[in-house]
Amino acid sequence: MIGNVSGNGIAVGITGVGAYAPEKVLTNADLETMVDTSDEWITTRTGIRERRIAAPEQAASDLALPAARQALEAAGVDPKELDLVVVATATPDMLFPATGALLAEELGARGAAAYDLLAGCTGFVYALAQAYGAVATGLSRQALIVGTEVLSKITNWNDRGTCILFGDGAGAAVVQPVERGGILGFELGADGSGGPDLCVPAGGSRQPITSGALEEEAQFIKMNGAEVFRFATRIMVTSAEELLAACGAGVEDVDLYVPHQANKRIIDHAVKNLGLDPGKVLLNIDRYGNTSSASIPIGLAEAREDGLLAEGTRVLMSAVGAGLTWGSVYMTWTEG
Ligand code: COA
Repeated sequence: MIGNVSGNGIAVGITGVGAYAPEKVLTNADLETMVDTSDEWITTRTGIRERRIAAPEQAASDLALPAARQALEAAGVDPKELDLVVVATATPDMLFPATGALLAEELGARGAAAYDLLAGCTGFVYALAQAYGAVATGLSRQALIVGTEVLSKITNWNDRGTCILFGDGAGAAVVQPVERGGILGFELGADGSGGPDLCVPAGGSRQPITSGALEEEAQFIKMNGAEVFRFATRIMVTSAEELLAACGAGVEDVDLYVPHQANKRIIDHAVKNLGLDPGKVLLNIDRYGNTSSASIPIGLAEAREDGLLAEGTRVLMSAVGAGLTWGSVYMTWTEG
């Protein structure tokens, strides 16, 4: 789906952002001791130097909580006032209850509608679209959206094709009506034919966790890296181009590009093909790897911290992930 929403009644924006990453750092040098790989290979093929790894007792809601509190404080919103909590994650605390409901309880947001959303690495952009819809129609007045992942717990640490890529973290944003600026448009989509290219086969109703599933290591991420790479390079460009055109904007109008951090080569390809100024690109993949649904909100929180987001900054975000899904959002940043 695609839409220029700038003419709709209520302007909706992000009024606070926050992020959290676990303390433990896993470097490429550490990975050299675990699988047959090298710092040189990982750096040149992906741009990743290190990633964060959750402690054994940390689950998705534990990472989400400090990120959410930071976002709420930045927005000046009391958690009790939240009426919607959407948690985008592929690594929920458990299948149910939803991590969104667990997080709402931890925050003291009892009574808010709270649920999980699964769109892989595109989860945060999908969550932003859902929160936008709820706030723009007046159904919600203060929504919290979170991307949180503990991918280290579904990573096969013997598979060098995947274990070098992923990391853990969380990012959050408060979505509210704003007086100026706000969200200008979305482009979202999915192509389920690519589902098998990036999946966790076991743990659902198709293949429950049995000793047979564990023997096949089907509880871990399986990925056809080359196919996902091909898809991602194409869709990161077309999604952003179609959205900007729908919004009557050109690439020169974008002040800050916050792409999903999957692979620096995918980002470089998008930047080059879109014709974006490389100086306008938020990059932190070297420090976090691919944190899936957390990557864009972590990027936003860092951009805010570094003074890259000011009143009127025009921000383009794009992501691609399991599904295969994709999504872009274009917005004007609002301060205070
Ligand atoms: N260390 C060293 N060598 C490795 C390696 C590693 N960690 N992983 C793979 N290789 C080897 C392969 O076995 C292959 O060897 P061969 O030529 O002898 O068969 C060689 O490196 C090239 O492998 P290839 O898969 O073609 O590398 P690539 O340049 O495509 O990079 C990925 C692999 C995974 C980094 C890349 O495909 C990718 O980023 N894909 C997208 C993944 C992604 O973003 N997923 C999440 C989407 S949100």
